[in-house]
Amino acid sequence: MNKRRMLIIGSTGQLGTDMCREARSAGYQVTGVDFPQIDIAERRSVARHVVESKAAYIINCAAYTAVDDCETNRERAFALNADGPGSIAAAAASIGARMVHISTDYVFDGRKTGPYLETDFPNPQSVYGQSKYAGEQQVAAACENHQIFRIAWLYGLHGKNFVFTIRAAAEKKAASGGPLTVVNDQFGTPTSTREVCRQVLKALPADLTGIFHATCEGSCTWFDFAKEIILAAARIPVEVLPCTTDEFPRPAPRPKNSMLENQRLKRAGIAVMTGWKRAFREFLRDEADLREEMCTK
Ligand SMILES: NC(=O)c1ccc[n+]([C@@H]2O[C@H](COP(=O)([O-])OP(=O)(O)OC[C@H]3O[C@@H](n4cnc5c(N)ncnc54)[C@H](OP(=O)(O)O)[C@@H]3O)[C@@H](O)[C@H]2O)c1
Repeated sequence: MNKRRMLIIGSTGQLGTDMCREARSAGYQVTGVDFPQIDIAERRSVARHVVESKAAYIINCAAYTAVDDCETNRERAFALNADGPGSIAAAAASIGARMVHISTDYVFDGRKTGPYLETDFPNPQSVYGQSKYAGEQQVAAACENHQIFRIAWLYGLHGKNFVFTIRAAAEKKAASGGPLTVVNDQFGTPTSTREVCRQVLKALPADLTGIFHATCEGSCTWFDFAKEIILAAARIPVEVLPCTTDEFPRPAPRPKNSMLENQRLKRAGIAVMTGWKRAFREFLRDEADLREEMCTK
């Protein structure tokens, strides 16, 4: 088996786009596939792509990530977040590949005081969280050689995320003159796609399987992160005020505590994720570089 060959499923999503780029820079021969070229809800489609890839590593970045929509589309959520990863893992096992899967902090109920460890028992509160937890279980059952990375509060250059949402909301409020209110009683760690990619690529060849927590270091609330985002975009003159989760109701419940400790990666000596503020500054530099690149094209 060619150990440099990699199949990335969900290759045009927020994480998948950067995973393809980072893996190629690290010297992997990457094949990227996404919907509709592959449909992870279709077992045969999955098996064909995995077998044809002859890859040593199958990385699944595809998922149904619309958390609130999952509440009313339970069947679809389980088809894409549980059965889909299960099919990918079974196909990976059939060719002797390592299955790498991405999961989430939403597997926890958020009631713990302090960061969650890999040994803490999941208790998902939303349909999204339940489907992702079922996905972890299906992956583990179908492919012994698996690595599952639980990440949280993800943002990157290529997707819908909190950074872009807050900037847009701030621009709107700046125009209308009102303050922007942001939830200040949910705790977690903003985590950039680049940091996740670095961590996954570092852990990939290690002789370790199972579940790994993989978020940036430190923690904050959404309000703290919003202030950081708006501070960086100094031209948006808007007042940011804290509010509670109860004042900002959503269809799917969010964990109040999303903090994850990367304990297994640290104990194995392969933890590479940096502080969330530092990672955010790198994101801003990448964004400026991308803008310049697009202007010169
Ligand atoms: N975003 C977060 O804050 C966050 C936090 C924790 C964990 N995660 C996990 O991190 C992973 C990556 O998230 P992300 O933000 O990069 O998600 P994303 O941007 O929504 O990307 C998901 C990708 O999956 C594709 N997809 C959807 N249905 C498919 C199907 N039936 N067959 C094949 N591909 C399909 C999507 O294609 P379309 O665009 O065409 O639908 C999209 O390209 C997911 O496992 C997610 O659960 C995300």
